[in-house]
Amino acid sequence: MTPWTETTVVGKPLPRVDAYERVSGSAVYAGDVSFPDMLHQAILRCPHAHALVKSVDTHAARTMPGVRAVLADADPEANMLLPYPSWIRNGPPMRLFDPHCRYAGEEVAAVAAETPEQAREALRAIVVQYQELPFVLDATEALKPGATAVHERGNVVRPPEVIQRGDVAKGLQEADAVVEGTYETSCEIHATMETLSSVARWDGDRLTVWESSQGVFDHQEYLAAALGLPLSSVRVICRYMGGGFGSKAELSKHTLIAVLLARKTARPVRSVLTREESFLCAGNRPPHTMTLKAGATKDGVLRAIDLEGVGVVGAYADDATGGFLATQLYACANVRVRETEVFVNAGKARAMRAPGFPQCAWALEQTIDALAEKIGIDPVELRLRNLPTSFQWTPPVPYSSMGLGQCLIEGARAFGWKEARERPRSSGPVLRGVGVAACMWPNPGGPPATAILRLFADGSLNLTTGVSDIGTGAKTVLAMVAGEELGIPLDRIQIEWADTATTPYAQVSGGSRTVINNAPAVRAAAVEIRRQLLEIAAEELKRPPGELVLKDGRVAPVDEPQRALPIPQLKGLQQRKVILAVGSRHPNPPKLGLPFGVHFAEVEVNTRTGEVAVTRFLAVHDSGRVMNRVTYENQVFGGVTMGIGFALTERRVLDRQTGRVLNANLHDYAIPTVLDVPADMTCLPIDPHDTECNTTGTKGLGEPAMVPTAAAVANAVYHATGIRVTRAPITPMQMLGLLAARGRRG
Ligand code: MOS
Repeated sequence: MTPWTETTVVGKPLPRVDAYERVSGSAVYAGDVSFPDMLHQAILRCPHAHALVKSVDTHAARTMPGVRAVLADADPEANMLLPYPSWIRNGPPMRLFDPHCRYAGEEVAAVAAETPEQAREALRAIVVQYQELPFVLDATEALKPGATAVHERGNVVRPPEVIQRGDVAKGLQEADAVVEGTYETSCEIHATMETLSSVARWDGDRLTVWESSQGVFDHQEYLAAALGLPLSSVRVICRYMGGGFGSKAELSKHTLIAVLLARKTARPVRSVLTREESFLCAGNRPPHTMTLKAGATKDGVLRAIDLEGVGVVGAYADDATGGFLATQLYACANVRVRETEVFVNAGKARAMRAPGFPQCAWALEQTIDALAEKIGIDPVELRLRNLPTSFQWTPPVPYSSMGLGQCLIEGARAFGWKEARERPRSSGPVLRGVGVAACMWPNPGGPPATAILRLFADGSLNLTTGVSDIGTGAKTVLAMVAGEELGIPLDRIQIEWADTATTPYAQVSGGSRTVINNAPAVRAAAVEIRRQLLEIAAEELKRPPGELVLKDGRVAPVDEPQRALPIPQLKGLQQRKVILAVGSRHPNPPKLGLPFGVHFAEVEVNTRTGEVAVTRFLAVHDSGRVMNRVTYENQVFGGVTMGIGFALTERRVLDRQTGRVLNANLHDYAIPTVLDVPADMTCLPIDPHDTECNTTGTKGLGEPAMVPTAAAVANAVYHATGIRVTRAPITPMQMLGLLAARGRRG
């Protein structure tokens, strides 16, 4: 398929196809799905960080008003394991109601009642006897010899992950300058606007689940496996979603519990997690400690990167590595990354927007900043001297495009980097500075992805895709791809999506892959529709299909535009009433097309209050083709906003006395509001016109958009104050302490 050169629909700043539903409140989210005989679910959670459940007495609860069923570990149907997502190997079993509770918030029992209030009230009537156990809350404690073991196997999740090339010791010796530092990040919560929700309903032995899900086909597989049902008996539907960020990529216990309670009561059951519950049991970004050593020659050539990391998975297994970024962002012959993952008595981690990467950028990109200073080279320039020329693997994989250099050069120009670096840093008690940080993201997408298009007899179109639109605008972009090929405006395209019964398989919407997986499938289907249409028209126009063009909803011979036939006038179409095409994603080429990006931040540090304000921000991304300028900016600004939260405010706080989450709400856990992000926030797309990566030339954006943000802010804080803040977030309390220690308090 020939690459697009000029496009007429793709790239346009078109509003989302579902914008009206989303802003008017008419969109039906999973938690809005309602049935007249529907029951409501509530879950009893262990209040202790670590405890054995000695007994659960549900007798009184079963007779409470409105209660229709109670489920606890003693019930045979609850004897079930929650499946791990496919990317987690060898995790300890996650029993539905484990009598060994490993964190404050773990599920102990559940109730289905006529109203949400009755369900919650019944929880209070369940009598549980706990035997409290000592607990560990952080990696340092958990790794001490003799520490309380979260699991029988101990607190180390698996043997350390090591990625290595060259000889780091030798590289460090060859370096003229070496810097070393230990960087820490905090546990972050996804804080999706819509909390996790499901409605489960059985018709005989067939199950339908309306789910706030990033991937309905994955959830279908998990549920079918857990219940021992064929895939054809499990239907999962995701209509609208209010964000996922990774927290809705895997099946959650509350969904499986709702399914079991629905079967037990023969009634539909709705389960909507409260905001507090979503802080306890819906995953988090694992906190990391990374010690980094890096060396470069005096002319700024990186000779070695050595990273030793510890990530905290929480009470059950997850992926808490993050060092991969350090192996790929810059060309470097000698690299070693070694990471240990640790269990503690706290809620389990889950993939969260670029899992591991913002943590690694926090460490790596501050290290590069420190190295630049030590050898006296501008941080933009140092990065330019170490651009990767291939994906550094054995053997190396060439890039189909690699825009990091262009991001740095054009970004520095657009931001006014040189001038800003030289501007005076202080005006009274306020210190100003600018910082830069870079990123890449290692996922090129790929098959399987399938899309179905149906051209109706009047020339309008149906697009059927299995994709969950998690809030990024995926539906809009996919419809634009069909519109581009067929010349059909978006308001004449009906979209059907994310229903395992009616739409074709799609992978989880995650990994910044939704568009790069599925847009080529849609394009292939559209090309096939056009082929069939031209074949039909060829008979009527008495010209071979190769001499016909489809433009603006009409088919005409290339050299006789006056003979154009509008699509609905094609007799062949009127006879069939539909043209159907299925498109599949092609395999990836031997080269890799990956996204890169660079963020520039300007900050003000108030030396009297310790407050850090981000006053100006520029995000420059090579994500290949911009598919829609509106959804592009939404992704970038959303990513930067999330990154500013990571840098300045967001941190799950565990109480050292009890092990409970102290800030399980959006008041005490502060995500940035419009007042916390700069009014002067801009983005600059860099499109290297990648004609090889896939048939749409786009490379993925959602995750890279937040990877370097916090590091850019920290580097700006360093530029302003001369203080390297190694612990995220940079709270006023921390900043004030650091300023005071340096005698720089205003
Ligand atoms: Mo994402 S963290 O791949 O949903």
